[in-house]
Amino acid sequence: MKIINNIKELKEEIKILKRKNSSIGLVPTMGALHNGHKSLIERAVSENEDTIVSIFVNPIQFGVNEDLDKYPRTLDNDLELCKNAGVSIVFCPSIEEMYQGIDKNDLTLICPPYCVLDKLCAKSRNGHFDGVLSVVAKLFNLTHATKAYFGQKDAQQLFIVKKMVKDLNFDIEIIPCPIVREQDGLALSSRNKYLNQDERKIALNIFKSLEGAKKLVKMGINDPKKIVDNSLMLMKEMDVEYIEFVDIETFEIQSEINKNTLMLIAAKTPISKTRLIDNMMICE
Ligand code: PAF
Repeated sequence: MKIINNIKELKEEIKILKRKNSSIGLVPTMGALHNGHKSLIERAVSENEDTIVSIFVNPIQFGVNEDLDKYPRTLDNDLELCKNAGVSIVFCPSIEEMYQGIDKNDLTLICPPYCVLDKLCAKSRNGHFDGVLSVVAKLFNLTHATKAYFGQKDAQQLFIVKKMVKDLNFDIEIIPCPIVREQDGLALSSRNKYLNQDERKIALNIFKSLEGAKKLVKMGINDPKKIVDNSLMLMKEMDVEYIEFVDIETFEIQSEINKNTLMLIAAKTPISKTRLIDNMMICE
């Protein structure tokens, strides 16, 4: 496995892979890899001749009051995981290498469509998806990947990346991968590292709310207000940012639950104020 920190060297390696006619799978990450990332990486390795994992805590997707400085960095473990999974290249550049010291205000950015900016994570995390799309586009261009793997936990991110690929004619296939959960249901996230035992228990109520919603729908209760009330009761110790229902295909907010309904939650834990997100299809 090659560990590459600079763009020039990455380009040389990509030339070699292209000459071999290799299919290239890309798994973009910010490191602190867990079993969720592992599942993306294993899928990429199984479907491509060569897999590239990028590890880059992308500063331009963090807001001023967010957790850029304390975001977990576990490079040695991450490299070990990648090596064991059969990754060909880990690309882990510095901020300087990626952005040449240029401030976000002076960078060319890709903006998500305005119709998504007023909802869910885009609404509270101003500029977040500009940062995500811009770095993802850069990684697509640098790696010449044929497929890129994204987790469904970041459902809005996945939707926006797919939209960028379609709207801007990127020659890459986006592969959505299922959410990986702990045994009790907590969705895996690098930010779970911020939680102590008590907060972890509280955080589990996000999953319980989604499961609860699914049960209510199964019982024939599909009034979104009743589902929201039940969820708010379960998450009473948390600071709930949103509970929304969208059409999985269009990401339009839905006022009625149907087969296409994806329920999404963002909520902060009470002590460490860790912002967690999760989602589930609630109508079987
Ligand atoms: O989902 C993430 O970890 C990040 O948003 C991504 C896609 C690696 C871009 O920095």
